Amino acid sequence: MISSSEAVGGVWSCGPPTGRVRNKNYLWRVKSPASHLRHCTSPYFTSKVVTPPLHYICPGLFKASSQVRQLPLRYASTRQPPKMTGQVNIDPKDIQAHLSSYEGDKYVEGWAALWDKGDSLPWDRGFPNPALEDVLVQRRAIIGGPIAQDAQGRLYRRKALVPGCGRGVDVLLLASFGYDAYGLEYSASAVEVCKKEAKEHHSRYPVQDQALGRGKVSFVQGDFFDDAWLQKIEGSANGFDLVYDYTFFCALRPVLRPKWALRHTQLLAPSPAGKLICLEFPLHKDPQAAGPPYGLSSEMYMAHLTHPGEEIPYDDKGRVQYDPQQGPSEAGLERVAYWQPERTHKVGQGENGVIHDRVSVWSRRT
Ligand SMILES: C[S@@+](CC[C@H](N)C(=O)[O-])C[C@H]1O[C@@H](n2cnc3c(N)ncnc32)[C@H](O)[C@@H]1O
Repeated sequence: MISSSEAVGGVWSCGPPTGRVRNKNYLWRVKSPASHLRHCTSPYFTSKVVTPPLHYICPGLFKASSQVRQLPLRYASTRQPPKMTGQVNIDPKDIQAHLSSYEGDKYVEGWAALWDKGDSLPWDRGFPNPALEDVLVQRRAIIGGPIAQDAQGRLYRRKALVPGCGRGVDVLLLASFGYDAYGLEYSASAVEVCKKEAKEHHSRYPVQDQALGRGKVSFVQGDFFDDAWLQKIEGSANGFDLVYDYTFFCALRPVLRPKWALRHTQLLAPSPAGKLICLEFPLHKDPQAAGPPYGLSSEMYMAHLTHPGEEIPYDDKGRVQYDPQQGPSEAGLERVAYWQPERTHKVGQGENGVIHDRVSVWSRRT
């Protein structure tokens, strides 16, 4: 059980307007009355790339310097990629050919058949993207910490969802930071791989803060676009405080994009608590080239997420026709932060190490 005096984890992640982080090597843990939790886990923070120090957002939190102690940040700075446990036994080109033989709604069965063939597919890096680690460590003022307080003053763990979680490494990472983490996979075989990963590689995901502890981990089989899996985990619509979308949007047939955006609005908790984190990838692939992964752009994320469920026009080069001046629709999400991550998987970098990936964070308008 977490006591209210222990439950707040603040992160100093102030930076100049370029979004560079000045001090990324330390977590600041703060002893704070529970009354501050509300503010800190649900900061009202819009349209800024730079994360301000927490005391800008919740002035009461940093009352006295004696209340603040510095913790060395073990995870992000020292972590080495583990060796892959399985074999990359399917060629990416074969994947495209394979999936193209599954028509319409059967597409998702194509993914399941792939997982049935091999437990380590080409998109699987075997460890979480360091860009996600950096979000969890450095951007807590935007996404909120793992613990919140309900209307009755009870503390609870916030829920994080990873749709199309693959091997489940991001789910395990989120739980190690204290979130109750849910991994959704259509493939039953992938769910088994996730459970094996959790069992065999538990030690790769040490608890990040002993005061906050580890969140619960649940892997569930189901289709992102229907509700059956929600019932299995006794979840509810708009019940997820964080949703992390990486290599999921790009895995879907382009025709599913309006539905994908709409589904996020149905799963994400109301504003300001609910945050969708998109690690945008692949931004350097020609959108007309064969997929998956389908080449994307930040404009595509923007056009679809701000107008969920709507057909978005594309030009003959596969570029989205989107006017950046256009605001979100009533049901649309708002982009509350956007930046170039300092680290990401190699697959999100150009030959010279230039990072193509971007991180965007989205919130419902109500
Ligand atoms: C490209 S893989 C990415 C896996 C993981 N995110 C990673 O980075 O390693 C996409 C995953 O989404 C899953 N998937 C595709 N469509 C889905 C759907 N409608 N519902 C749930 N999972 C789905 C596939 O089984 C596949 O494992």
